[in-house]
Amino acid sequence: MKPVFRFTLSLALAALGFCNLVWAQANYPDRTISLVVPFAAGGPTDVVARMLAIPMGKSLGQTVVVENTLGAGGTLASQRVARSAPNGYTVLIHHTGMATAPALYKRLGFDPLKDFDYIGQVVDVPMTLLGRKDFPANNFQELLTYIRANKDKISLANAGLGAVSHLCGLMFMSQVGVDLTTVPYKGTGPAMNDLLGGQVDLLCDQTTQTVPIIKENRVKAYGVTTLNRLPSLGQLPTLDEQGLKGFEVKVWHGMYVAKGTPAPIIDKINTALRFALQDSQVRQRLADLSSDVPGADKLTPKGLQTHLEAEIKKWTPVIQKAGIYAD
Ligand code: MLT
Repeated sequence: MKPVFRFTLSLALAALGFCNLVWAQANYPDRTISLVVPFAAGGPTDVVARMLAIPMGKSLGQTVVVENTLGAGGTLASQRVARSAPNGYTVLIHHTGMATAPALYKRLGFDPLKDFDYIGQVVDVPMTLLGRKDFPANNFQELLTYIRANKDKISLANAGLGAVSHLCGLMFMSQVGVDLTTVPYKGTGPAMNDLLGGQVDLLCDQTTQTVPIIKENRVKAYGVTTLNRLPSLGQLPTLDEQGLKGFEVKVWHGMYVAKGTPAPIIDKINTALRFALQDSQVRQRLADLSSDVPGADKLTPKGLQTHLEAEIKKWTPVIQKAGIYAD
């Protein structure tokens, strides 16, 4: 082929590619969007995702389907989204674990600060420390006495390295000065099933899953992980007020897409997220579960990026000092 024809052909192909890109952005979304949850169905992250999926779909004019991609404390889901096509059809919802993963996993298949574009922060959720219904300790002081005397016999469930249930359990054991047997699951949904079935003894889990279960009296609740009591669980003291001074865990969530997603698409997903978080039913449900919607400045791509950077800086030295990691 003559050089002049080759040049004209490349120009035409480039123009076609550009037109396709503009068309795809203008018509986004023209098919179903996957909202990827890094933990098992029925658990706290899944609860938030399913709450948002319908109103987000309404705003986007397409169905948003929740997909649970399990394993490795949420990192397999993050890796899946980081490696997906940057077209806005694969969206990740993840929590604090996004900031702890770089220190916890020596061989992480993605970089939280390089491989994603950010949609916005989503919701902040407290945790509660629970025991199985027939666990011998009836309150927090009895729990301390019992676990100090029986530490070799007690199991503490979590959702794996990088899960907030794992982090909360570690903080609890460190402050109490005991080392319990930990039992990892692929989410606190299945961990909760085993707590309810009496197969494990203790679990630290988010209120998006635990408030109804505590209210139905199906578990023993020992305390909340915030410094103030929660409106929906007013009778339940904080761990701080019961002696674990300064014990505080509040889980933050964010929404991500693969790096390189065009700005107009990010903007549409962000608009849908803010629409969902304004929905009166969503707000009421979140309030009932003692979960907070962050301020408007945090519900932005920049708000999430800034928060994530700060959280990675906060958690990395803590985890390195504790010497916890996966090979
Ligand atoms: C879940 O959705 O199962 C939890 O967020 C897992 C955890 O981090 O504890």
